[in-house]
Amino acid sequence: MDSMALISRAETAHELTQSELLQLLQDQHINDALFAAADRVRQKYVGPEVHLRALIEFTNICCNNCLYCGLQSQNRAITRYRMAPQEIFALAQKAVQYGYKTVVLQGGEDPFFTADILVPLLRQIKGLGLAVTLSIGERPRSDYQRFKEAGADRYLLRIETTDPALYEKYHPGMSLANRLRCLQDLKELGYETGTGVLVGLPEQTELSLARDILFFKQLGADMIGLGPFIPNPDTPLKDAPVPRLTPALKVMALARLLLPDINIPATTSMETLEAQGRFKALQSGANVIMPNITGEEERKNYALYPGKNASMPSARARRQLEAQLKAAGRPVSAGYGWHHKSR
Ligand code: 5AD
Repeated sequence: MDSMALISRAETAHELTQSELLQLLQDQHINDALFAAADRVRQKYVGPEVHLRALIEFTNICCNNCLYCGLQSQNRAITRYRMAPQEIFALAQKAVQYGYKTVVLQGGEDPFFTADILVPLLRQIKGLGLAVTLSIGERPRSDYQRFKEAGADRYLLRIETTDPALYEKYHPGMSLANRLRCLQDLKELGYETGTGVLVGLPEQTELSLARDILFFKQLGADMIGLGPFIPNPDTPLKDAPVPRLTPALKVMALARLLLPDINIPATTSMETLEAQGRFKALQSGANVIMPNITGEEERKNYALYPGKNASMPSARARRQLEAQLKAAGRPVSAGYGWHHKSR
């Protein structure tokens, strides 16, 4: 079938096969039509509103060694930090003052933050009336269960790539099977579960990206966060080719076509790559932004990739963003922005 026909069918049926996804990923003539279709599907299923989630990067200590990531344990070039639970709570209070309804607690896989430390903190933060998203990597199911019982609502764990050979190569000492186990546990425990991939890793093919998109659907993801891989000078992948935004936008748009009612952020890495990246993403299927409210000092050292520093700490910055979004016809939501399943 020709690519334009595939897009219009996917816009109503929300299905594409692996070979159809591959065709659309490879066809460079249909990109604008694909983005426009994803924009219409977003409008139809989740409306014009943008949900803001306050991101708190509370530790950059990580025991893993992912080859692309600046937080990898072997990187000696960054200063490591770990916020105390009461500092994290103070930031959550700030999030409430700024008008946020959700906080995202993100960190490296830091052994200090056991369930015994996190459970009381989660309960305390839930007492503020916030929705809480965790993004702290792979844990035993029993931890996920305790976090859920303490009130955690959502969990972000990117699969990064579903390609077994690439996964093993870029995640020494880790296994794709365990990552899949984690995602399965999170779904079963009733979390709104988010996953996603890096787009543009060396040796990643379009076929592999097509399979990634089918995986999102098969998992029944509630959220998909993805972005371009940006080479980090302090990592073994520092000499990888300079990334482009378009392939990541295409994967995102295709995810919107297949999973029409989910939440999809315009990610920081999209913004980092192109000044207008965030707005392009919002016009190609995205409906969420995650402003970073971590303090200046810590933020500098949460260096996943270069340029990731967008400053947005204040109430004023939030009002500016709201005004910009409103001018673009995208009001900021006053609600929690749950995933409302339409099918
Ligand atoms: N470029 C882009 N994204 C990256 N991440 C880690 N390193 C990089 C990089 N060099 C992403 C991973 C992780 C998320 C928190 O940051 O996908 O899941």
